[in-house]
Amino acid sequence: MKVTVFGIGYVGLVQAAVLASVGHHVMCIDIDDKKVADLKKGLIPIYEPGLTPIVEETYQNGLLDFTTDAKAGIDHGEIQFIAVGTPPDEDGSADLQYVLKVANTIATHMTEHKIVIDKSTVPVGTADKVKAEMTSVLASRNSDLLFDVVSNPEFLKEGAAVADCMKPDRIVIGTDSENVKKAMHELYAPFNRNNDRMIFMDIRSAELTKYAANCMLATKISFMNEMSNLAELLGADIEAVRHGIGSDSRIGYQFIYPGCGYGGSCFPKDVQALIKTSHGIDYQPALLEAVETVNHAQKQKLFTHIKNYFGNDLAGKTIAVWGLSFKPKTDDMREASSRVLMESLWQAGAKVQAYDPEAMEECQRIYGNRDDLILVGTKEAALRNADALAICTEWSQFRAPDFDFVSQSLSNPVIVDGRNLYDPQMLNEKGFTYFAIGRGDSLKKTS
Ligand SMILES: NC(=O)c1ccc[n+]([C@@H]2O[C@H](COP(=O)([O-])OP(=O)(O)OC[C@H]3O[C@@H](n4cnc5c(N)ncnc54)[C@H](O)[C@@H]3O)[C@@H](O)[C@H]2O)c1
Repeated sequence: MKVTVFGIGYVGLVQAAVLASVGHHVMCIDIDDKKVADLKKGLIPIYEPGLTPIVEETYQNGLLDFTTDAKAGIDHGEIQFIAVGTPPDEDGSADLQYVLKVANTIATHMTEHKIVIDKSTVPVGTADKVKAEMTSVLASRNSDLLFDVVSNPEFLKEGAAVADCMKPDRIVIGTDSENVKKAMHELYAPFNRNNDRMIFMDIRSAELTKYAANCMLATKISFMNEMSNLAELLGADIEAVRHGIGSDSRIGYQFIYPGCGYGGSCFPKDVQALIKTSHGIDYQPALLEAVETVNHAQKQKLFTHIKNYFGNDLAGKTIAVWGLSFKPKTDDMREASSRVLMESLWQAGAKVQAYDPEAMEECQRIYGNRDDLILVGTKEAALRNADALAICTEWSQFRAPDFDFVSQSLSNPVIVDGRNLYDPQMLNEKGFTYFAIGRGDSLKKTS
């Protein structure tokens, strides 16, 4: 099929490449000239495992292409995906300006029927807004062209995005049109062979399904973080508790890791946006508000441990930071816990010496050159003469470091671990002061 994708970000580029890899003809449109020019030169703007070879192969065999020319892009596809950003507005609601701009552009240039698929995460009722925008533009053109608007939220996980698109758990489609259903079956047939993953529903339910999924996952994390705070105060070990509850198949082991808060481009903004939607209909979403409150507090934990240990004035101190991305296997630092820690450290006068396997360029892009940020090329270099090590992201290369080397490199053998990577007893035996999340044990031995 001929497909157009608006927005070459984490979602648009991966989805476009995966659709092209099974034989669809995909044209990507972005307003970012540099991104388009770079992609045409084979430079992939994001780090996502397995993405580069698919983009290279499909671009070379002509199934995938990139343009900034909206008219040409719109002419190309019978199907038009909207995969642009929906960042939080100042009040936390989803900012729909990019989605509605694309709707406007499609209606401005279309010359035949189009199926417009909303893949961006958008509040319930957005399909109606997209329809209204397109209808108004077509009316101003005196055009009687027809179109369908479909909700097809994306559930991919950064770091596993290619695999998730190749083998989705489910393909949620919100539509009330039989013709659209047929087209969606044809589009997704290559990903739907092993078992039927397509779930059809009305548009509003599809829009809400995406928020419900992300809010459920964020709730699991905040729940565990609340338990970890209780564990600390009660002298229990949250890791033992995690095993104890995860073994219950009704609870399961997934997404119950305590840590230094959730980040990324989705959970924080989607929880906030659903809270805003709720307020807009006079509903008080007590649970969602608590999820967000717990997360904000949790993101302060690493800094609080450092401050409690070294005192409020951190001038002259250097903190080694391992992990900048909001989770492993991505270079995405949107709402990352590392940012809250680094910004708090800077405010208290400390320097940061940081390493991340993939997010160094992104960190440089966000913060630019500053005296109190030293980005280094290895995890070992980050430790050199630092006063403590803080771990923000559970990259696999941080899981079993040479602790003797860590101890020798740091001025003080202090580790503040936001991801519970190590055995507190072992670290205490090696002479470290070890702060983890919800591990009464590590606190008892270090206090
Ligand atoms: N990143 C994820 O893991 C993920 C997962 C599921 C859903 N989502 C949702 O998907 C949407 C996109 O997220 P993302 O992370 O890919 O965003 P992104 O910021 O990485 O990419 C968005 C792209 O859209 C482009 N764009 C903006 N306006 C445009 C326009 N008028 N025409 C063409 N291109 C335009 C931008 O230049 C950018 O390249 C969001 O709604 C997000 O919530 C994201």
